[in-house]
Amino acid sequence: MSYSAIDVTPVTPRIGAEVSGIDLTNPLSNQQVDELHQALAEHQVLFFRDQKLTLERHKALGRHFGELHIHPNTPGPEGHPEILPIHADGESKRIAGENWHSDVSCDIEPPLGSILYLHTVPPVGGDTLFASAQAAYDALSPTMKTFLEGLTATHSGDHVYRRTNALIGREDRNKVFPKASHPVVRTHPVTRRKGLFVNRGFTTHIDGLTEAESRALLDFLFEHSTQPAFQVRFRWQPHSVAFWDNRSVQHIAMWDYFPQVRSGFRVTIKGDRPV
Ligand code: SIN
Repeated sequence: MSYSAIDVTPVTPRIGAEVSGIDLTNPLSNQQVDELHQALAEHQVLFFRDQKLTLERHKALGRHFGELHIHPNTPGPEGHPEILPIHADGESKRIAGENWHSDVSCDIEPPLGSILYLHTVPPVGGDTLFASAQAAYDALSPTMKTFLEGLTATHSGDHVYRRTNALIGREDRNKVFPKASHPVVRTHPVTRRKGLFVNRGFTTHIDGLTEAESRALLDFLFEHSTQPAFQVRFRWQPHSVAFWDNRSVQHIAMWDYFPQVRSGFRVTIKGDRPV
């Protein structure tokens, strides 16, 4: 791909690129949006520095890429239901994204992508790690690829969100959380590349297999797909932004900075049914 409206520098050959030459705090041109779309499909996660986003500008940025998603468990700040606060400090009992996951993959139509902006970061630590589901798929043997091709897996939000709520003391007895069955191998709608679409956070079992068969296969796929060779690790600075494609990466937030403060906001863009 060649880009003329943005500068794109890959961070690893398989996943991740730094994007410069663009100001996300102002409305974007159609060409910038098209090129960001292309870069996201090509590199799976994009990193930006020195972007001081307001809540309004953050939402406007997300809306360039689709309708905004509202989180099924965590309410946004007053007047901003589409904003997901990401915050940890010395009082925190848990953080968002402590396990490898693709955001809200328990939705029937899981989010296309997420844009995270952090205004406050610890002096060291608090990185986010991303793993390419496509690189993981590519590295499988042809026999394993054929075996996985027709399989589906169940993704559930129940255990994830009830654990969070129990830890922070949020009442959820009458809540019903999303649950969905998705293909284990997902084709990216833009690049047509295939990727593994299972993750340790939300995927509970492979449909149609016994408990033992499903456990063994999922354990293999979780280990395989999060190997360092398929990863990129982002070191945050104040006012950095990461924009990831939930259709082709999973990610994990590293909570190695307790009791320091790490704080910002995420907007999440609605997606479509995995195929
Ligand atoms: C998340 O969206 O899963 C949180 C990621 C992070 O805080 O680095």
